[in-house]
Amino acid sequence: MQKKLFVSLSATSVCLAVVCLVMTPVLRAQQAPWEGTYSAEQAKRGEALYGGNCVACHGRDLAGGDRAPALAGAGFKGRWGGRPLAELLDYSQAQMPLNAPGGLTRHQTADVLAYMLSKNGAGAGAKALWFDGPEGGWAPVKRSADFMKVATPSTKKGEAFYSEAQATRGKQAFNRNCAYCHTVDPKTSTPADLLQALPSTFGGHFLERVVDGKMVYPSVLMLYSKLLSMPAANTRSISEQQRVDIAAYILQANGYPSGKEEIPVDVNAMRIMSLNEPGFERIFNGKDFSGWNFNLGANCREAPAGCGRTDPGDVLRVENQTIVCECHIHGIFYTDKKYKDFTIRFDFMFEKPFEFAPDDDEELFSGGAGYLIFSDIGAPGYPKSIEVEGRYRDIADYYAIGGPGKIGKVDLEAKRKVMRPLGQWNSFEIMAKGGQIVTSLNGVPVSKVDKHDYNYAGNIAFQTQGRKMAYRNIRIKAE
Ligand code: HEC
Ligand code: HEC
Repeated sequence: MQKKLFVSLSATSVCLAVVCLVMTPVLRAQQAPWEGTYSAEQAKRGEALYGGNCVACHGRDLAGGDRAPALAGAGFKGRWGGRPLAELLDYSQAQMPLNAPGGLTRHQTADVLAYMLSKNGAGAGAKALWFDGPEGGWAPVKRSADFMKVATPSTKKGEAFYSEAQATRGKQAFNRNCAYCHTVDPKTSTPADLLQALPSTFGGHFLERVVDGKMVYPSVLMLYSKLLSMPAANTRSISEQQRVDIAAYILQANGYPSGKEEIPVDVNAMRIMSLNEPGFERIFNGKDFSGWNFNLGANCREAPAGCGRTDPGDVLRVENQTIVCECHIHGIFYTDKKYKDFTIRFDFMFEKPFEFAPDDDEELFSGGAGYLIFSDIGAPGYPKSIEVEGRYRDIADYYAIGGPGKIGKVDLEAKRKVMRPLGQWNSFEIMAKGGQIVTSLNGVPVSKVDKHDYNYAGNIAFQTQGRKMAYRNIRIKAE
């Protein structure tokens, strides 16, 4: 039976071969414009590219199907045989693959075309198919100069965010759920290892890894966020408590100190656990107003000497790690401690004003806010200080109160580029050092004072000026 089939099949192929032999000159004659327009090597490259980018729709052997027309055969030849090949190249590169038009470069598309021509019966020639034109395709990813640079290792790693007991629980969970794919062994952490897409260990300097100029895990939240996609076997196989415990274990393996408290399962709490800010200390603990004072009442001296109330009342409250300021009574709240050379960082957000329509210019929002540095709180009258403006309209301007008035320079263009809309968080940094001030908005320096003579340590005061807003993650590095 099998033998018979074999024989009859061979007979058919012979027969086909004969037909083909007879037919070939006719086809070749029809293909004259494509004959010899590509090289065999190019068609081979094209076959691989076709397999990776076109076959899903245009089918094996370019036969087409439900999803796309055939790219070989009479129909195709009829449509394209009489037109310049350059047009087919242009079309294929700009419109295909349909799921990612322009995804292949012009050179790659020319290779695929060579393969298509070979499948349409045109013979190869000596030279590759090419027509000049823009190379196109996705721009190669431009890596910044400090791509995959390791941040300068520091001995001061940051605050104590987790407890030893939590890291021990994390170790157990890690060993059970992660250790067959990963390790946290600090010994294998080398600069070369950190250049890998997936470093071989999560210990040592893993958390200091910088890619494209940015630290990959600047906060416990970003580490937790990555852990949400793990374990690879099934992300639902561990509990959220185990996930934060594993984060604690990774922190420990990176040399971060342990303390009394645990990392809670609370994204707002994890957000303010910075891993990239050695030397910074949180001056708002996320829970209450320890370390802060109040003087609320317009133009009031503080009670008992004056009309200013010294408790937050219903003007300010703490909610979800955030200071919510109703701000309906003007005044200030200020740090216990005094600072001379320092960097203070925090996030602020104005409530989206109900009276603004989407096309109203938000930069004109005049709801007030401001930060008084070098505040001389004890003295009568408005505290002598330098105010760094917090209002949208002129944010980061400087006013030397009790001094020369408006000072410093502002980079308007930079400011407008980085400012986020009302209702969104913006990050703010004021750095004061040796008579200079630099203020950054969302990580970009936007204003500076080259020289001032407020050279004494003062409190830092936040103004409350009538419009609802919020603050979070207030931390400071004192020099
Ligand atoms: C997601 C499906 C899909 C993929 C992948 C795809 N195509 Fe197409 N292609 C189509 C469809 C659908 C058409 C018909 C479009 C039309 O008629 O407007 C088409 C049309 C074409 C045509 C014109 C055919 C003709 O007879 O006029 C060419 C040439 C072509 N594709 C080349 C390619 C090449 C080369 C690739 C791979 C780099 C590719 N396509 C990948 C769906 C796809
Ligand atoms: C079956 C193997 C496997 C298991 C189990 C697994 N992972 Fe992964 N993990 C991977 C792969 C593959 C990657 C790289 C791809 C990615 O980043 O998603 C990765 C990436 C990571 C990264 C990112 C590393 C970087 O480049 O910054 C972290 C962190 C991580 N895993 C943690 C864990 C933790 C914690 C567990 C256990 C709860 C776990 N993984 C379980 C396979 C696994």
